[in-house]
Amino acid sequence: MAHRAPLTALLLIFPRRSVFKYVLYVISVFITVATASTNDVFSASHSVNAATARARDIRYLLYDVNPPEGFNLRRDVYIRMASLVKTLRKDGDQDWVLVLPPWGRLYHWQSPDIHQVRIPWGDFFSLPGLQANVPVLEYEDFIAESGGPFVDQVLVLQNYAEGWTDGKWEEKVDERPCVDKLMYSKDKQGYYRGWFWGYEETRAHKVMCMSAQGHASILAPVLQGNITVKSVMLDRAETVLHDHYAGKDYWSTRRSMVFAKHLRFIGDEFRAKYLNSTDAGDHTVYNEDWTRMKAELGSAKGGSYLGVHLRRKDFIWGHRKDVPSLKGAGQENPYPDEKAEVGQELEDLKRMLPEMVQFEPTWEDLELLKDGGVAIIDQWICAHARFFIGTSVSTFSFRIHEEREILGFDPKSTYNRFCGDQEKECEQPTHWKIRWSLVVPSRGQGRQRSDRQEQLSAASSPWNQPEAAQVQPHLCLPAQQGWG
Ligand SMILES: *[C@@H]1O[C@H](CO)[C@@H](O)[C@H](O)[C@H]1NC(C)=O
Ligand SMILES: *[C@@H]1O[C@H](CO)[C@@H](O)[C@H](O)[C@H]1NC(C)=O
Repeated sequence: MAHRAPLTALLLIFPRRSVFKYVLYVISVFITVATASTNDVFSASHSVNAATARARDIRYLLYDVNPPEGFNLRRDVYIRMASLVKTLRKDGDQDWVLVLPPWGRLYHWQSPDIHQVRIPWGDFFSLPGLQANVPVLEYEDFIAESGGPFVDQVLVLQNYAEGWTDGKWEEKVDERPCVDKLMYSKDKQGYYRGWFWGYEETRAHKVMCMSAQGHASILAPVLQGNITVKSVMLDRAETVLHDHYAGKDYWSTRRSMVFAKHLRFIGDEFRAKYLNSTDAGDHTVYNEDWTRMKAELGSAKGGSYLGVHLRRKDFIWGHRKDVPSLKGAGQENPYPDEKAEVGQELEDLKRMLPEMVQFEPTWEDLELLKDGGVAIIDQWICAHARFFIGTSVSTFSFRIHEEREILGFDPKSTYNRFCGDQEKECEQPTHWKIRWSLVVPSRGQGRQRSDRQEQLSAASSPWNQPEAAQVQPHLCLPAQQGWG
């Protein structure tokens, strides 16, 4: 018996066989993983004692995102934070490490009866992959390494209460009174309590609000100069923008977000079994050492099926004009009960397209993979389709675009979306062309390597060093913000 969360998204896959037959692949939402941190090399090899840490001046950057934001926007915020850490490491002598905020409690992850908090990044992504871009640490390893479940200082990022002064945009950051109600409160011992990814024992020594307007790296001088404590957490990290959206550094970080091996494996098995799709046949040979993966644009052929991400639920409930109905234009909503609507649509689709296929996890699979893992498997399958159609302004679709860009698909096969029933001008998604950058091995940089860097190298491989961070004061308004 298959288990799926209430649908917010549908992924449809139509294999093209001899005659025009369809197999449809339907996804609900964002599902996850529980166990099997096969790539958790880092935590295994990890132990710096406090004295060494101090001598090397290790500092930890933690962050979190506005709770309603979904999995795929959070992946976007990771890119901004990785960029900030690169700036911090480049500009100063401090050995900054990015602490990965555990996954869980996400709005879209609604599978009932599945434990979905305190999920480490290693359940979804390859840690050696991430570390080859920037030093990262799972939260539990941070607790072990830094001496306990304490965050020295939380900076709650916010916009300026007064907005843009004189209608003029300028980049700035200032300590300010909190605009919104503070989500942290003092306990009897004088520590701050709040949401720390479900780690109830975690406390903060200090909390302050900081108004920030601009790209992520405008925070670097404050973190290096004004604040001297060892661990700093940026809450509402989505407040700051990309240093350079779709620039080289963006793409390096994006490429480093290699899906965990077991998820790719399950996706590949599904492709082979139901869609006759293999990497060799489809010209999508993958190298999990992302620094060596450089597919020519247009080289990927993809499996002979159509991958579709048709987002439902919150998008249709929001009455968005750029999202189609399944029934077509001009009809009254045939489903008066909104909650039943998506499930009903799925049933209708199955009737209309009997050969539609879907990765349907059993309850046991779901417990293991979780909503996030199933979302990744769905994305992986869609990323290998010969042709993909997504939903307008959906970060779920954006992440598939990027994955296909990395695999080397012709942009014509990727940057397509459904149009709303009434939409006259149906603008198609932007092609954000991949920008390659050379990953420079750290030994060549003439800089003394820290213990951590040595460890990272030992933990993954010699190519394990961030490229010189490319930070430009380039403003990019996050068009996708707010849409999971
Ligand atoms: C950081 O310190 C500088 C110099 O002391 C000061 O001008 C600036 O206002 C401080 N910034 C913040 C955000 O506290
Ligand atoms: C599967 O794909 C291969 C080529 O990759 C093709 O030769 C074969 O006929 C396909 N099988 C089916 C059942 O479609």
